[in-house]
Amino acid sequence: MNKARTNAPLAPILVRSKNFHWPGIDADPHYKYSRGSNPTRTELENKLVALEKHGEVLHAAAFASGLGAEAAFFLTLMPGDRVLLCNETYGGTYRLFHSFLHRFGIHCDFADLNDLEAATKKITPQTKYIFVEPLSNPSLLVNDLDKVALLSKKTGIPFVVDNTFCPPPAIYAFDYGATAVIYSLTKYFGGHADAVGGAVITKDVTLNEKLRFQQSTLGATLSPDECYRFLQGIKTLPLRWERISKTALTVAEWLSKHPNISKVLHPGLLSHPHHELAKRQFPNGIGSVISFEITTDPRKFVDTIIDETDIVFGESLASPETLLCYPALMSHKSIPEAERLALGITDGFFRLSVGFENAEEIIGGLKKAL
Ligand SMILES: Cc1ncc(COP(=O)(O)O)c(C=O)c1O
Repeated sequence: MNKARTNAPLAPILVRSKNFHWPGIDADPHYKYSRGSNPTRTELENKLVALEKHGEVLHAAAFASGLGAEAAFFLTLMPGDRVLLCNETYGGTYRLFHSFLHRFGIHCDFADLNDLEAATKKITPQTKYIFVEPLSNPSLLVNDLDKVALLSKKTGIPFVVDNTFCPPPAIYAFDYGATAVIYSLTKYFGGHADAVGGAVITKDVTLNEKLRFQQSTLGATLSPDECYRFLQGIKTLPLRWERISKTALTVAEWLSKHPNISKVLHPGLLSHPHHELAKRQFPNGIGSVISFEITTDPRKFVDTIIDETDIVFGESLASPETLLCYPALMSHKSIPEAERLALGITDGFFRLSVGFENAEEIIGGLKKAL
């Protein structure tokens, strides 16, 4: 029915009720208790499915954080199962496998997913999923989803995308053949630094049933207030994406010319090893993040950022304010030093997430600190 003819509200309806009436003794209603299902959460889950603009039927399950969504997903595996991950992943994913899932007999392997031959060699009879970040955290390496889809087809192993760094309108992962997409909603979906959440979206009905069971049984579901915030944030996601993608590219170009910078990682730059692939895979922009390495003292750099600029020194990305993160001691602290250095996350390595300020203001702050 045409919504305009229904007197419906424009903002989402926030239902905080923890429990619901049962219409009769054997009614078994859909909404019973909000840990299992809640109308505002259903609205968010439906919205997340709609955002993927995919022809096949999709299902979404929202969790209390991105890592909560990942944990619920990986805990659908059985002892002995393995997952093949792209070489560089978010530090929390690394920690989840190395400090938690291994206790349940669930293990991971790493491979360069752009190298089909090398990746195929890492597949074992126990490998149940291939797990990929299309734009890796924090180095912004581009994993080619066409190649991952080919690997998946060749081996018969479904692939799952952690699409936190490149949500729609950047990438529609189901169009590449993904079985499931995982999001930290905390970043681009919320966009206002006021909510933490996560979700798994899947076309696999059995997987969806298991995730619904995890929601009720593990209980790490998303609160109605947070669902409301994400529903509101999603409305401005394409606008924010366009703006921050432009700002980030301008700042990256400026950084790449600065004498105290040894490396700038932004796939929009010609110098990035995956520039051509990025142009194909991200036609609608690359988002707010730029990573770079400085040649000067990182402590002095951070002190000036904190004391003399409006750039916020802190964790996370995709806030209205520009954020400077130090992966070695923040997002990727859990990765052992030797592995971290091998990934290029050196002591001079920083990750910047541009906010809504003008590029000139951000550049002004960086200029001072560099
Ligand atoms: C790529 C990626 N996946 C998952 C997560 C975890 O999300 P959350 O912080 O919402 O638990 C993060 C957090 O930074 C991330 O960057």
